[in-house]
Amino acid sequence: MQVTRLRRLRQNAKLRDWISQTRLSPKDIILPYFVVEGKNIKKEIKSMPGVYHFSIDKLLKDILEAKEIKAILLFGIPKVKDERGSQAYHDESIVQKAIKIIKREFKELIVITDVCLCGYTTSGHCGIVKDKKIVNDETLSVLAKIALSHAQAGADFVAPSAMMDGQVRAIREILDKNGFFDTGILAYSVKYASSFYGPFREALGSAPQFGDRKTYQMDFRNSDEALREIEEDIKEGADIVMVKPALAYLDIIRRAKDRFNVPIAAYNVSGEYALVKFGAKEGIVDEKSIILEILTSIKRAGADLIITYHAREVVGWLRAR
Ligand code: PBG
Repeated sequence: MQVTRLRRLRQNAKLRDWISQTRLSPKDIILPYFVVEGKNIKKEIKSMPGVYHFSIDKLLKDILEAKEIKAILLFGIPKVKDERGSQAYHDESIVQKAIKIIKREFKELIVITDVCLCGYTTSGHCGIVKDKKIVNDETLSVLAKIALSHAQAGADFVAPSAMMDGQVRAIREILDKNGFFDTGILAYSVKYASSFYGPFREALGSAPQFGDRKTYQMDFRNSDEALREIEEDIKEGADIVMVKPALAYLDIIRRAKDRFNVPIAAYNVSGEYALVKFGAKEGIVDEKSIILEILTSIKRAGADLIITYHAREVVGWLRAR
């Protein structure tokens, strides 16, 4: 049989590269960081090799080395937790301190902050708990307070991840009321209740102390619902919408991309990361090629931005090409 035209072009490496349709670029990549109180701390997270708890001084050093990184996403680990997660919105809390110093040292870096309660509440849930239930409306004002405190510290974008209804509106309102019109919202619009978050919960110490997150995060059997969540968030004022996790949800990313005309972000989450890392350690897969394949696939599915713990190594590889 005659080879097809496609096959002919594919045989030539130069042409293959020339007609390729998806190109990962450093500007697509967002690097997540976990910040802790203290000094001189860089402690590896057991279930996420290559990912660390950083004190602010060490974090600055790491950012300095990660030159090609354009944007980071900050998670804070507070010294104490309480029922209402009050350490989350204190202006001298860990994330707020980190933002101020990072913004002073790295003016060009885009700083995004996670806005949620799960790392700050004793319950480990993303909202205020009453009688073993997560109460939506009471949580909104707390999320808004957290977002405002991040904006005041200098965050470029706040990223609400609590999956409370109305969280984007509540945050947009408080930001505007206080003059933070230019602070953007990256909404975790589509966040599935997922087993892929396991390692992250170890990193943040945020595993729910009772029940699970299925009463507020999405059911992975559903897809149409994802589009409704995004539609709501855009109406409420989201500038960028996110689908999370990424790899098992490429179909959702594609549907979102086809339907909406806002930038789409995807979160290549901790479980996706850990499986690749441990698989590579065991020699089962080739680390570099599998990471590039995964991230390029997420981009091909329609993601404009990708949050990934592989960020540092990936931008290095992209520069070397
Ligand atoms: C918290 C939050 C979670 C992640 C980001 N923000 C976890 C959760 O819902 O338990 C997961 C990130 C990851 O797994 O890498 N609201």
